Amino acid sequence: MAMEYNSCTAACVGFVLLLVFNQSYLGNAADQGQGLGASFIFGDSLVDAGNNNYLPTLSKANMVPNGIDFKASGGNPTGRFTNGRTIGDIVGEELGQPNYALPYLSPNATGKALLVGVNYASGGAGILNATGRIFINRVGMDIQVDFFNQTRKQIDKVLGPSKAKEYIMKRSIFSVTAGSNDFLNNYLLPVLSIGTRISQSPDAFLDDLISHFRVQLTRLYQLDARKFVIGSVGPIGCIPYQKTINQLNPDQCVELPNKLALQYNGRLKGLLAELNKNLPGSTFVYANVYDLVMDVITNYEKYGFTTASVACCGNGGQYAGIIPCGPQSSLCEDRLMHVFWDPYHPSDAANLIIAKKLLDGDTKIIYPMNLRQLRDHGLV
Ligand SMILES: *[C@@H]1O[C@H](CO)[C@@H](O)[C@H](O)[C@H]1NC(C)=O
Ligand SMILES: *[C@@H]1O[C@H](CO)[C@@H](O)[C@H](O)[C@H]1NC(C)=O
Ligand SMILES: *[C@@H]1O[C@H](CO)[C@@H](O)[C@H](O)[C@H]1NC(C)=O
Repeated sequence: MAMEYNSCTAACVGFVLLLVFNQSYLGNAADQGQGLGASFIFGDSLVDAGNNNYLPTLSKANMVPNGIDFKASGGNPTGRFTNGRTIGDIVGEELGQPNYALPYLSPNATGKALLVGVNYASGGAGILNATGRIFINRVGMDIQVDFFNQTRKQIDKVLGPSKAKEYIMKRSIFSVTAGSNDFLNNYLLPVLSIGTRISQSPDAFLDDLISHFRVQLTRLYQLDARKFVIGSVGPIGCIPYQKTINQLNPDQCVELPNKLALQYNGRLKGLLAELNKNLPGSTFVYANVYDLVMDVITNYEKYGFTTASVACCGNGGQYAGIIPCGPQSSLCEDRLMHVFWDPYHPSDAANLIIAKKLLDGDTKIIYPMNLRQLRDHGLV
């Protein structure tokens, strides 16, 4: 024993250190049950972390002053449609991730970087392929799932197939924030949608949305996704854009978009209950974003905001709600006091309130468990 110990040379010590280093690196990322492993983020501009920077599209946010409060970029724009972090970013931070999930289209999203997850979200995207055509280009949900299929194969290469499968099933959360654009930039824009939309009843449109979403979520399950959180559609009749074009009072919201959102959300709950039952080992969590955001909008003063109707960055009309945020926009002085950053998207301050409730909220807000519980669900 002593002989063996004594014969450990400098090279041997180096080897041991290397082993320890590798263990602790992979340990953090892939082995131990502490913190969230990976966060795979799907959806639209509410959670896009920069995919649209790589597309020829009219839906872009990689221009000042977007990102002005995003610490990781030193206040430079990243492609996020807000002044700071998205809900996806904040959830990742709070669940113990060392880095934000990179956009899938970023050249840096390869190798070990994939182990914190990947962001597939794209401004203008929806559940339906035709949604967001007004922007010329965007990555819809069908293609986002195709992209995950590519990532899935790469993670097999990084971890080896059996570890990869376990990592995806147990240590990863799949979040989907989609549906708003299927109303705002499809159903409610009949001039620009396919002719059939004009005559399609709301029920038929909802059937269409839910059946496409069922296929997309089932495909993710087939690729080993097990822990899902799905956002309901928020009160899209209350965004500065809608309030401006409909010339409403500050405390009013447009009825039809909100009514459609609520109808869709009811169907979504049913879909998630069905998938929980039919896909063995799956956990689909419903995030009640509608009530959560409506509460922040209605009780904005209680949350420390001075307005829930005027966009901080934008132009046009009473609520700066027509022209998206860019270098020519008027910019508010008090970014912490605005619920909305731009005509469509919440500010970092509002995202922080929403994210914290999703992380620790009760079953009225996030059902059947919150995100902290979902992270630890199914681990010993
Ligand atoms: C990729 O990583 C390099 C090195 O960390 C960094 O300088 C560069 O900005 C990153 N590129 C993108 C597109 O994120
Ligand atoms: C959406 O478009 C993609 C490619 O453009 C296609 O593969 C897919 O089948 C389409 N989905 C539907 C439901 O039409
Ligand atoms: C993933 O891609 C493979 C081809 O590489 C294909 O056979 C498989 O059907 C795809 N899976 C899903 C769920 O789309």
